[in-house]
Amino acid sequence: MCTLALKKIVAPVIFIAVTFTVNAQKSTSQKVDSLLQLMTLAEKTGQMNQYSSDFTATGPVTKDGDKQNQIRKGMIGSFLNVTGAAKTKSLQEIALQSRLKIPLLFGQDVIHGYRTVFPIPLAEAASWDMAAIERSARIAATEVSAAGVHWTFAPMVDIGRDPRWGRVMEGAGEDTYLGSMIATARIKGFQGKGIGNTDAVMATAKHFAAYGAAVGGRDYNSVDMSLRQLHEIYLPPFKAAADAGVATFMNSFNDLNGIPATGNAYLQRDILKNQWKFNGFVVSDWGSVGEMINHGYAKDNYEAAMLAANAGSDMDMESRAYIKHLPQLVKDGKVKMSVVDDAVRRILQKKFELGLFDDPYKFCNEASEKQQWNNAAHLEAEKDMARKSIVLLKNSPLTPKGGKTAAALLPVSKEIKSIALIGPLIKSVKDHLGFWSYDWEDDTARIPSLYDVIKKRLNSDESLFYAKGCEVADTSTAGFAEAIEATKKADVVIMYFGEDRMMTGEAKSKSNIHLPGVQEDLIKAIHATGKPVIVLIGAGRPLIFNWTADNVPAILYTWWLGTKGAEAIADVLFGDYNPSGKLPMSFPRSEGQIPVYYNYYSTGRPAANENDNNYVSAYLDIPNSPKFSFGHGLSYSNFQYSNVSVNTTVPSGNQNLIASINITNNSTFNGEEVVQLYIRDMVGSVVRPVKELKGFQKIFIKAGETKTVNFTITTAQLKFYNDKLQHIWEPGDFEIMIGGSSNNVKTVKIKWNK
Ligand code: NOJ
Repeated sequence: MCTLALKKIVAPVIFIAVTFTVNAQKSTSQKVDSLLQLMTLAEKTGQMNQYSSDFTATGPVTKDGDKQNQIRKGMIGSFLNVTGAAKTKSLQEIALQSRLKIPLLFGQDVIHGYRTVFPIPLAEAASWDMAAIERSARIAATEVSAAGVHWTFAPMVDIGRDPRWGRVMEGAGEDTYLGSMIATARIKGFQGKGIGNTDAVMATAKHFAAYGAAVGGRDYNSVDMSLRQLHEIYLPPFKAAADAGVATFMNSFNDLNGIPATGNAYLQRDILKNQWKFNGFVVSDWGSVGEMINHGYAKDNYEAAMLAANAGSDMDMESRAYIKHLPQLVKDGKVKMSVVDDAVRRILQKKFELGLFDDPYKFCNEASEKQQWNNAAHLEAEKDMARKSIVLLKNSPLTPKGGKTAAALLPVSKEIKSIALIGPLIKSVKDHLGFWSYDWEDDTARIPSLYDVIKKRLNSDESLFYAKGCEVADTSTAGFAEAIEATKKADVVIMYFGEDRMMTGEAKSKSNIHLPGVQEDLIKAIHATGKPVIVLIGAGRPLIFNWTADNVPAILYTWWLGTKGAEAIADVLFGDYNPSGKLPMSFPRSEGQIPVYYNYYSTGRPAANENDNNYVSAYLDIPNSPKFSFGHGLSYSNFQYSNVSVNTTVPSGNQNLIASINITNNSTFNGEEVVQLYIRDMVGSVVRPVKELKGFQKIFIKAGETKTVNFTITTAQLKFYNDKLQHIWEPGDFEIMIGGSSNNVKTVKIKWNK
């Protein structure tokens, strides 16, 4: 039906009105075509142009002060960094003063929540809980869509094998399979029941492609990799995103094998739009069209606009190259009108699907925006997500007492009467929020620190001692003495270390990823008092803390957990929640070992064991293995795996293979376990990884109970890209491995016949 707003759009010229009356009975794509016919080349180019407002920018913003006029002239199709129902409405009103009254699209980086800040995506990935991850994205969409935003620049689905790269915090870690599952869950969450609904936003699969493989882990750096690796490791999460119906893609800053992704037709046209039949649109990354000049790939902005548009970048974020040069490029015959039309069609299609032509203000509802402020249900869900994201790295029994091995330190025993809280993050508030979070005026009032939460939980007869000890990046040990004094008064010490929220994120690459400053020295000093020590590490990436890992009995990795992070941590510390997180990235022993990941290839000279360095592929100074492996994560329960079996050791053709294992919860704690399935193809026409994750199940097992977990394996899971880039499986020998971590599995061998 042709609504009021649509009629308003067609008001200026009679023949336009006629066209749209016809459109009322037409499909969306026919409406798009009708509108396209009415547009001048300048107006088309305007739709392909996106500007930022002047706040929360992640690149240089050109302040031309004339944006309102440009909106009126139809020269801007979209904004980023404009939020708030009132603000978006006021800009939309200006757009409706333009000749064709095409509504604006508002995009925003809603990476891990909006008003309710959720754990950073890498932390959420540690939950391996797809329903919870989907819910987190759903809530973010609900909150930000009420603030007039139509589109989030998330999820980032880049594979992250290099913790020096600050943006690992924004992704799902190192694994292709897990990353693909999470990409799907997050897109489902953002886009909800469909992007026409007022509680849904368009999602963006970014950064296309291979951005995470920047040389040396340095952000924005070059990427050079085989097409086989690109297709096998880096592209599948993008393909999963396209299959999940993601509305948009964002390309990336890096060049890929010499061609900047923004000007890369192989990626954007051949793979994305032709092979994958993606019908949404591609937005450039911030200024990445113009940055092709710095790459040395384009001479000037004119050429950059030509290369990007022809390669399939549909919208120019903040380069201003399209708006300035596309009309001339078309006149000069350098960019075909059909290329422009295709891009504009894709953008308009989404505006129609969002329902903006029916009601351009449908997302600008101040009342519903208010309801999202401190929404109790959202905060509860956030706390749940935060608890699920925590990884118990270590919980060793304490040194023997009177001949018997004492219980593990965690959860903190009810008999403990005094606690020392030490470390720079104990009283910190904003660091819980992580890098991609927005500042609200009441943050400090509404978000408790760990100190606040623990203090609240104590009974009157329990005492708390606090000392900061040092700052996050301190070089001074002046605060140690006070921390040692506080420690001596307590039965147990809880220490909270890590990174501040600006240490990991975009443009936050580091060559040294050890626990910053003198923090580990403080851990040593406190440990030397002989008091039982629990260490929490809050960070956006895997850090290196070898001494702590070797000497401290109890370690929780708490990432950056969001608004309710401190409460989630306390629940785990005191046993109100049994941790179940598993690492989505390997934790290196040393920066020199990076990249270190679980699914590496075997070499011609594999090391026989961790100490073998006799002319084998190994380091002289450290083992090959990471400090903590992909998939690792303990629980207060003790899960024992037994009886791995298969329904046949000689499957053939398209027969299903069922692999099973028993898991017993040998403890007094009910708990959840992520059971992981890995496969190794023993001999291939190209070398295959030593293991690859091919499935997982998160299951609840009551104390004392045994459960059997079954995995159905088909030949689809055996497929890989051969040297001709064909996606095939090859008959032969395989190892089927099931366990609670990539480095702790039970194996059964099979032979899969043709
Ligand atoms: C640059 C980042 O790479 C991208 O992920 C983000 O969406 C844009 N800036 C917009 O802020």
